[in-house]
Amino acid sequence: MASSSSMTLGVSTLLVLLPLGSANAQLSTNFYSSSCPKLLPTVKSVVQSAISSEASLGASLLRLFFHDCFVNGCDGSILLDDTSSFTGEKTALPNRNSVSGFYVIDDIKSAVEKVCPGVVSCADILAITARDSVTILGGPTWNVKLGRRDSKTASLSAANTGIPAPTSSLSQLISRFSALGLSSKDLVALSGAHTIGQGRCSTFRSRIYNETNIDSTFAKTRQSSCPATSGSGDDNLAPLDLLTSTAFDNNYFKNLLQNKGLFHSDQQLFNGGSTDSTVLGYSTNPSSFSSDFSAAMIRMGDISPLTASNGEIRKNCRTSNLPPSEDQPLLFCVFDQDGRHHSPHRLQR
Ligand code: HEM
Ligand SMILES: *[C@@H]1O[C@H](CO)[C@@H](O)[C@H](O)[C@H]1NC(C)=O
Repeated sequence: MASSSSMTLGVSTLLVLLPLGSANAQLSTNFYSSSCPKLLPTVKSVVQSAISSEASLGASLLRLFFHDCFVNGCDGSILLDDTSSFTGEKTALPNRNSVSGFYVIDDIKSAVEKVCPGVVSCADILAITARDSVTILGGPTWNVKLGRRDSKTASLSAANTGIPAPTSSLSQLISRFSALGLSSKDLVALSGAHTIGQGRCSTFRSRIYNETNIDSTFAKTRQSSCPATSGSGDDNLAPLDLLTSTAFDNNYFKNLLQNKGLFHSDQQLFNGGSTDSTVLGYSTNPSSFSSDFSAAMIRMGDISPLTASNGEIRKNCRTSNLPPSEDQPLLFCVFDQDGRHHSPHRLQR
């Protein structure tokens, strides 16, 4: 009796634990090492030439990966154009007039398809591209886990709710990150991505005119190119890191110590709360920022990947291989006049 019930317990524990433990088990740094040995240099050379021609693209490419992973996992969904059966993520509030760099992903995908057709997912291309962008701009490097597959659909509403707003409070940020398995240390480290890139006036207007935890000289400087009236100058840009907006360094944290965070959400990380000490640490110890950022990027890349027979390897990052309404292969049988039955044909579209 005793042994049979402990057997049962053992078996049910296994049943419960295995699916959880194996959720990301299929992502590995050597996933394509035999199927596409030239993958990494192929991606890197396109990223390098894009950033050489326009340094601000590095920030765009890094952000694409974040916005992909925070919406139904790192599945390439952000790259899908709208179709007649779904409205995708590109026009969601956090993305519209804001995310960019899609053409670079297209260029990378074309280059990768040339060396290994039909093998590498767009979701993995985003992960590699984000890492290369950080490294090329002077930040750390890390080994990217690979083996994600691509979604066949995308969701505007999931993008609207999944990506944190710049008006978020510290507790809202912590809870959104925690829902995705990321700690508050990961939140602070990943926010260090705001050491590169730019933001639009409409996303920081209320902070520079109305908040008190902001350096007054900094606020005045930002006000000079961001009018107080909503609707005027909404798309005027300001650097997220006022010191070096195309260098991946730890200046973001130094800015926060001086109340020079651009977004409300940035300054929340150093505003007398639980994350102050982490910000302080990264501001004085760039190598701890580098190693925590790398580890946090790997954890972010582990969010709900599609693996095994889920999803697909898209041929074109902007479209599913078959439109969703036609997702099921259409099989039909052909009978000739005397009723003899031929093998099924797949309808060609
Ligand atoms: C913690 C919550 C976060 C919030 C509330 C937030 C919000 C924002 C906003 C509002 C912008 C400016 C968009 C615009 O004006 O069009 C921005 C830009 C950016 N964000 Fe975040 N972000 C967060 C976390 C992250 C993370 C985790 C990463 C990457 C690891 C990231 C990378 C970037 C980059 C690189 C830019 C500049 C984009 C460019 O210049 O094209 N952000 N973010
Ligand atoms: C600042 O706050 C006041 C009072 O709440 C509000 O009327 C005004 O629109 C705000 N200004 C900006 C630029 O957000």
